[in-house]
Amino acid sequence: MKNPFLISGYQGYNYFCDREEETEHIIKNLENGINTTLLSIRRIGKTGLIHHVFNKIQEKRPSICIYIDLYATQNLNDLIEKVATSFVKNFPEKQSAGKKLMQVMKGLRPVIQFDGLSGEPQISFDFTLESQMNHSLQSLFSFLENQNINIVIAFDEFQQINEYPEKNTEAILRTIIQPLTNIQFIFSGSSKHLLMDIFNNSKRPFFASTQAIQLGFIPTEKYSDYIQQHFESNKKTISAESIQFILTWSKRHTYYTQVVCNRVFSLGIKLITISDVQKACNQILVEQEVIFYQYRNLLTAGQWNILKAIAKEGKVYHILEKKFIQNHSLGTTSSIQRTFASLLQKEMIYEEQEEKGSYYSIYDCFLSRWLEKI
Ligand SMILES: Nc1ncnc2c1ncn2[C@@H]1O[C@H](COP(=O)(O)OP(=O)(O)OP(=O)(O)O)[C@@H](O)[C@H]1O
Ligand SMILES: [Mg+2]
Repeated sequence: MKNPFLISGYQGYNYFCDREEETEHIIKNLENGINTTLLSIRRIGKTGLIHHVFNKIQEKRPSICIYIDLYATQNLNDLIEKVATSFVKNFPEKQSAGKKLMQVMKGLRPVIQFDGLSGEPQISFDFTLESQMNHSLQSLFSFLENQNINIVIAFDEFQQINEYPEKNTEAILRTIIQPLTNIQFIFSGSSKHLLMDIFNNSKRPFFASTQAIQLGFIPTEKYSDYIQQHFESNKKTISAESIQFILTWSKRHTYYTQVVCNRVFSLGIKLITISDVQKACNQILVEQEVIFYQYRNLLTAGQWNILKAIAKEGKVYHILEKKFIQNHSLGTTSSIQRTFASLLQKEMIYEEQEEKGSYYSIYDCFLSRWLEKI
């Protein structure tokens, strides 16, 4: 029996919960020539949503949807390699467009290797001059622009370009992208302030060129229906109370909710009680303890203390509030501010907005649940 609760990748509509509004919004943007910036904290479902949107678009009309993950890129040369490799994957050499692409590629003097495991092509370049990089990107995108088909490109983890030594990457990309009429873009990432700055700062090249969509938590009702339905269709019964427990305990943070559901499903129990769910949650924490201790070794005592304080609070709205500082015996205000900044930078915590205001929470929901108890 296939476990319907995926904890990696995207496998189609059946295994994807909600995101109807966001999907429609992005598709509408694409159809109206508006590029989209997709923002959220980590592990909420940006990458999944991109693939979901791709699926829907391709169902509507013939389209080529190209996904480019910039997470591991460290410079402009890496970005160009990613772009070239993803183009080659999407235009097989057997077809005429693929043959044309190969002609373009040859002019760029690539080294083409095949991944030993997947057999997929990996393109590498050894550009040193900016003019070479510019020229190669121009050639690749003008090849794409001339294809007689609807094309969408998603740059995931786009904030990574901030790390490149080539500080004019944005300007280079913007110059190339702006005149394209046949290609729509989705820019996605988790570092809100970095991405917002790219697109909302009037001094930067991408200013006001996209519409931002903020991806939040999946609404409780939608998620609980989804969970219920997947258990039911696999002939398992789970009480509403148990589902509520899962959603609260995993804080509706998509990845963590999926992990818990996946675990509960895998127990092989037909009639699932809340006590089964609680045991499964505890078991997850026990298994992860080694990692939690590693975190502790990597952090200073001050950072660890503040992390514990945040875990116990769940959400911290005002980091300098007297009650918060006193309840958890934290240090001076300046050291607290510094520690929050370093925990944010290490991606141990995130900052998110809600109606009540902006708050800080621990990224790893399991670590948070574990810290609450120690
Ligand atoms: N709508 C959804 N329904 C069910 N599962 C989902 C949904 N969206 C995402 N997931 C699952 O949640 C996990 C996290 O999703 P995803 O990788 O898309 O998040 P992300 O926001 O791109 O994270 P990161 O910022 O770390 O790249 C994955 O295991 C994915 O399978
Ligand atoms: Mg992602």
